[in-house]
Amino acid sequence: EGSVQNAGGIQATKTYSVESVTSVHHWTDELFSFRTTRDDNFDFVSGQFVMVGLMVDGQPILRAYSIASGIAESELEFFSVKVPNGPLTSRLQNVKAGDPVLVGRKPTGSLVLNALKPGRRLYMLGTGTGLAPWLSLIRDPAVYSAFDEVIVIHSVRQTADLAYRDVLEGDATRILPQSAGKLRYYPTVTREDYRNTGRITELMKSGKLLSDLNVGALDPKTDRIMICGSPPFNTDVKALLGELGFAEGALSAPGDFVLEKAFVEG
Ligand code: A2P
Repeated sequence: EGSVQNAGGIQATKTYSVESVTSVHHWTDELFSFRTTRDDNFDFVSGQFVMVGLMVDGQPILRAYSIASGIAESELEFFSVKVPNGPLTSRLQNVKAGDPVLVGRKPTGSLVLNALKPGRRLYMLGTGTGLAPWLSLIRDPAVYSAFDEVIVIHSVRQTADLAYRDVLEGDATRILPQSAGKLRYYPTVTREDYRNTGRITELMKSGKLLSDLNVGALDPKTDRIMICGSPPFNTDVKALLGELGFAEGALSAPGDFVLEKAFVEG
């Protein structure tokens, strides 16, 4: 139950199951999110991504998507851009409840707790749909056992692009009882006026981010950082952290920061 193995006559394979869309939310003309059923055998670690897609003219078109739902939820959630002529997203943006969606069977990725050394404060830096992995991680009790403070920092062009801000600004206990007093949210808007403006990299360099958050200088002894954005964003943050003595981590060798591209180009 839960997953529809042959919705619309589409057959599941070894690489993907066929799930059913349960709801869709359009944030703007360029951003939407959707939820699907979850295969009983689908297991993942908070922060991972998985291939998601549609059958188009008898061929599967799949793209990597971070899983935005929590590991304990019975459904999966994904947060996506709408690329006007994108082979996948130009179609995926039109899905309705009940429609079939392909979900890969092998989630993976480096934005996971076990790729980081122990620390006290966890920063999660995301641009655009790079918010998605944080939405899963903030629903994981293990994150609050591992860190005293968890800070989600989201940079977007326009205020309307601050998807999920109701969840992130609202009563933290609605996320998890453990989130109370530990989870913080810092949204910044780069192309119109807002209470916080400017790119994350600029806010880091100027010291404004840390002073707004009322925290001390970034310290590789205690601070851990997860990064999910466009390739130039990732490159710039990585360079900045390198100068501060932060080392990149991986599951095979946990470190001070991890990064992943915010996926879906088409
Ligand atoms: P900006 O508006 O100054 O380009 P996009 O929609 O292009 O993916 O951008 C999402 C957010 O990421 C925007 O706020 C954008 O700022 C910011 N951004 C894009 N590239 C970089 C970068 N190299 N360093 C820091 N922020 C970036």
